[in-house]
Amino acid sequence: METSRIRIGLLGCGHVGAALVSLVAERRGEVERRTGLDLEVTRIAVRNTALDRDVPVDSAAFTTDAAALVVDPEVDVVVEVMGGIEPARGLVSAALAAGKPVVTANKELLANHGAELYGAAEAAGVDLLFEAAVAGAIPIMRPLRESLSGEPIKRVMGIVNGTTNFILSRMADDGASYADALAEAQSLGYAERDPTADVEGFDAGAKAAIIATVAFGARVVAGDVYHEGISGITVADIEFAADLRHCIKLLAVVERTTASDGGSQIGVRVHPTLVPLDHPLASVRGSFNAVFVEGGAAGDLMFYGRGAGGRPTASAMLGDLIDAACNLRQGHAASIGVLERARIAPIDDVTSAFYLNVEVDDRPGVLAQVATVFGEHGVSIRSMEQEGLGGEARLVFITHAARERDLRSTLPDLRSLDAVRSVGSVLRVIGD
Ligand code: NDP
Ligand code: HSE
Repeated sequence: METSRIRIGLLGCGHVGAALVSLVAERRGEVERRTGLDLEVTRIAVRNTALDRDVPVDSAAFTTDAAALVVDPEVDVVVEVMGGIEPARGLVSAALAAGKPVVTANKELLANHGAELYGAAEAAGVDLLFEAAVAGAIPIMRPLRESLSGEPIKRVMGIVNGTTNFILSRMADDGASYADALAEAQSLGYAERDPTADVEGFDAGAKAAIIATVAFGARVVAGDVYHEGISGITVADIEFAADLRHCIKLLAVVERTTASDGGSQIGVRVHPTLVPLDHPLASVRGSFNAVFVEGGAAGDLMFYGRGAGGRPTASAMLGDLIDAACNLRQGHAASIGVLERARIAPIDDVTSAFYLNVEVDDRPGVLAQVATVFGEHGVSIRSMEQEGLGGEARLVFITHAARERDLRSTLPDLRSLDAVRSVGSVLRVIGD
């Protein structure tokens, strides 16, 4: 096989970029033997060229001129790992317009401007590949896009943020505090530059939008996703959940549902969720991710692996790079297909079981008052645990499946009862 030299221009050399430079160098000989592609990182754009990055590349490769890099005739493929929307959006567009395939790990960019960028790639006849943008090392974009392209997918449910899964696992398994676990996740290179994106569910929301787009062939953007983060989860919630034989996970859920007029709609949401301990997602710990696909013909499929960290993410990017380089050599490109306009299901219509913990005065008749309020809103209680706290009691409820709208309207009425001191966390529960 004749060897094709592929010169890679990298935008960013942080946790992921630096790991990718090393991985490309390590795997260069073997990739060439198997594919005939001689991959080499030849240009790297960063903000600070003075920083010592400990990567196997000549210091002359570094530049601060990212705009020149993406149109440089000596660059064949562009890899974007700088993150954020601008200047990444302009740079990726310019690279595609210059006929260069792009590989990116930037979920924020794709969840906000994906349709425009997929269109630009299509128009230029080159690849825009993004396996690393969702669930790190796990191959999930390519299976959804290719292997499952004919599958009537009903629902995809996943743990798609490594930072929050790491924090929840450290709190549950090792008794770590939220703040310490977050600092540890940051030091291990899992968190976003601004970790609010992780802990408030924006990062998982962006990934949910991308999953919905690819799984359902529909334009779903970050703004369509209902999201709640984990910053309000307490050690007490984790302990109550454990007593009920559940754990708490930040789940992304995308599903096709039927609207009241019979039309098809797409639900996209991210929230902390009680997962039964015997569910496959319950055993996903630390920075690992898992994506659970419910197909109409295939049945259930589960994809599992490291969801964050430089080297696992670089692994997914190297696969994309080889694909993009092969396609470039052969003069074709992968297509995301036609994207229809998505009709998004309002969160109020979503049905789930709920966990609630309510602190009340410990006196006769209070439980009956609380149960009456649930009943008045059509919310049925599946189980209740009571714990005495001196003059108070904590009531922990799990409801049967109820509409969000009904559950939300229950809360102010519960709070207005004289005997109710506080309504703590309200979390969804899977498995009902
Ligand atoms: P880092 O913050 O570690 O690295 C970002 C890099 O981009 C730095 O080298 C920085 O330069 C460079 N950069 C940022 N802005 C500019 C700019 N305007 N011009 C030139 N260079 C710039 O981020 P990560 O490596 O962690 O993440 C990169 C991308 O990968 C993000 O989109 C992230 O969401 C995604 N991702 C990250 C994963 C992870 O586990 N970390 C996993 C999956 C995806 P300098 O070093 O000089 O500051
Ligand atoms: N901050 C992200 C996470 C990186 O923790 O999952 C991987 O996308």
